[in-house]
Amino acid sequence: MNLGGETVQALVTVEDIHTYYGKSHILHGVSLEVGRGEVVGLLGRNGVGKSTTLKAIMGLVHPSQGRVLFEGRPITHLPAHRLARLGIGYVPEDRRIFRLLSVTENLRTGLDRHGVSKARKAELLDKVYGYFPVLAERRSQAGGTLSGGEQQMLAIARAMMLEPKIILLDEPTEGLMPRMVAEIRQIIDTLRSENVAVLLVEQNVPLTLEAGQRIYFIEKGVVRHHALASELRVNDAVIHQYLGV
Ligand SMILES: Nc1ncnc2c1ncn2[C@@H]1O[C@H](COP(=O)(O)OP(=O)(O)O)[C@@H](O)[C@H]1O
Ligand SMILES: [Mg+2]
Repeated sequence: MNLGGETVQALVTVEDIHTYYGKSHILHGVSLEVGRGEVVGLLGRNGVGKSTTLKAIMGLVHPSQGRVLFEGRPITHLPAHRLARLGIGYVPEDRRIFRLLSVTENLRTGLDRHGVSKARKAELLDKVYGYFPVLAERRSQAGGTLSGGEQQMLAIARAMMLEPKIILLDEPTEGLMPRMVAEIRQIIDTLRSENVAVLLVEQNVPLTLEAGQRIYFIEKGVVRHHALASELRVNDAVIHQYLGV
């Protein structure tokens, strides 16, 4: 795929997917691409199908039409745990922290099914704690005692334990204080520097334009437009058109 003159190998390709919840037709042909190591934003008003798009990539919603490719191979009908092993991390909106497990135990759940050596697990845990010093300080605390922002970090950190090639992030800054929003922004930059791609669903437009390289706009279940973030930063007419802000 070609991004403003630069050729990047596609990591995830979504081709014209349609999904239903019961009889409600939700996605009406969503197509998008995320390159290796690329941070891509997905913006749109409430209820247009952003979360459903992430769920469809993660195998949690099954498209009735269209396909999803990972590194060029069709993955449309694979179960979520297989996709996790292939290298797709997913942090849902509700985070799904185990409230009674400690921070370390929460992180280890990311490794359980994985057949990784003990030494490697310890190494990964150290590495992830290196990125999240706040979590390292609270490693023995129960997940449920963390603040909203810390729980979001824990959810992202747990996804990182699987050494994904891409993480799908669903509104990671929702309800967080500005200081925590800045931390999440930094984590996205860290992922990018580690060559981990991110597909970022957000309501926070400035953050998405800063953190993302390319942006897709979704409207009523269809991708209407995509553009380089650098173009949108200097010309916000498109933002007005699709988001009304
Ligand atoms: N589990 C579900 N069952 C029925 N309808 C759903 C379900 N989840 C989402 N929807 C509907 O699908 C549409 C798209 O939802 P969603 O993908 O969550 O939107 P977004 O993330 O863009 O706000 C909305 O109209 C929503 O009400
Ligand atoms: Mg959503």
